[in-house]
Amino acid sequence: MALELRPLTEADDAASWQLGRVAFGGPPERPAGRRPTPAPGEHALGAFDGGRLVGTAVDLEHTYYYGGRAVAGSGVAGVAIAPEFRGGGILRDLLGPLMARARDRGAAISALFPTTAVPYRRLGWELTGVLRWTSLPTAALAGERRPAQVRVRPAEQTDVPAVLECYRTWAEEGTGMLGRVGALFDREPADLLTGHDGYSVADGPDGIEGYASWDRDGGYDAGGVLAVPDLVATTPRALTALLAMLATWRSVAPILHLRLRPDDPAWLLAGLAGATTLSEQPWMLRLIDAPAAVAARGWSAGVDGNVDLELVDDLCPWNAGPHQLAVKAGAGTLSPGGSGSVRVEPGALAALYAGATTPAVLRRAGLLAGGDPDTDAFLTAALAGPPPGLLDYF
Ligand SMILES: CC(C)(COP(=O)(O)OP(=O)(O)OC[C@H]1O[C@@H](n2cnc3c(N)ncnc32)[C@H](O)[C@@H]1OP(=O)(O)O)[C@@H](O)C(=O)NCCC(=O)NCCS
Repeated sequence: MALELRPLTEADDAASWQLGRVAFGGPPERPAGRRPTPAPGEHALGAFDGGRLVGTAVDLEHTYYYGGRAVAGSGVAGVAIAPEFRGGGILRDLLGPLMARARDRGAAISALFPTTAVPYRRLGWELTGVLRWTSLPTAALAGERRPAQVRVRPAEQTDVPAVLECYRTWAEEGTGMLGRVGALFDREPADLLTGHDGYSVADGPDGIEGYASWDRDGGYDAGGVLAVPDLVATTPRALTALLAMLATWRSVAPILHLRLRPDDPAWLLAGLAGATTLSEQPWMLRLIDAPAAVAARGWSAGVDGNVDLELVDDLCPWNAGPHQLAVKAGAGTLSPGGSGSVRVEPGALAALYAGATTPAVLRRAGLLAGGDPDTDAFLTAALAGPPPGLLDYF
């Protein structure tokens, strides 16, 4: 029997909670405070078999930073298929229309955290980065000294705009970082500072230069932990000041958990001796609207050239066919036409877009074909940037 696909409404809330709970665990009823479906900034699609909800997928209104610019995107979450219907192709039936709708609302790229990469890879997403928590002995930071020009103090409500601006400045230098803006992130300034045990700001002569959010866990014995989701600094002295504040916990919280970007300057500035990986959550990327994705991002300044691509994409067929990628003065365009000399699978296009790999590696994986050393060199140079990092799980 053909399934009915339609957006979820408030009337589907209980059924969608049950489907998610069966897949991912959780209490029988939606806990108070958990947002019902659909919430502002979320677009949930359901697959129904004779009126019974058997599959869900949610498009979250996101932006991600690429090349210093915000690219409108879709965070895919809440993907769950009823056990009896798994392996029957419902994932494709859901994600094709989900991406078409996301494109209609202006999303150019899509990111997701997979529980298994296999089905998403088949549909054009590719592994591009890892959300990593790092664990280290707090005492490893004992050598950090607070710089004279920066005072670390508890954040006040009046600091919230400066804290948000610090995050924006810091995130837009990365590749793939979430822009924490839009309907999903609209909240009262008073609420921003309540989600953690503490928010500490690094206050310099001209204002806030960084901040750390932190949570205390365990006792004050060997198991005491200080977890730091955001360690954000726009100057070296702010980073040093915050690290020195974290070091003072070593007598009562001997373990420090840091959510660091792969290109975090803390790796260069601090002695992170003894650091180990606490957890890793891989994430995947795909282009939803390839010309829009190319136009929206920043490209390597100083690279000037073009390449003829043959794009393959059966989930988002509007992307498929010969296209010419042209880059000049930090801007890119993708226009239909050209010889299609370099054939690129959708996952390969995503991995290139994120600067997560090179054409040579993709060729060895069978995901890119054609071209020559010049086209490889052009693509590598045009997409060079910081390693991809996405620190917000969804
Ligand atoms: C993962 C899930 C969403 C896939 O949906 P689905 O409708 O079963 O997927 P499809 O039928 O389209 O399968 C696509 C392919 O991926 C494979 N696949 C599906 N789930 C897989 C898994 N967990 N591990 C490895 N491969 C898997 C299928 O075997 C199929 O390959 P085939 O065509 O060679 O048989 C679904 O199995 C599910 O709900 N699992 C539990 C919840 C979950 O993990 N959600 C994902 C959150 S990111």
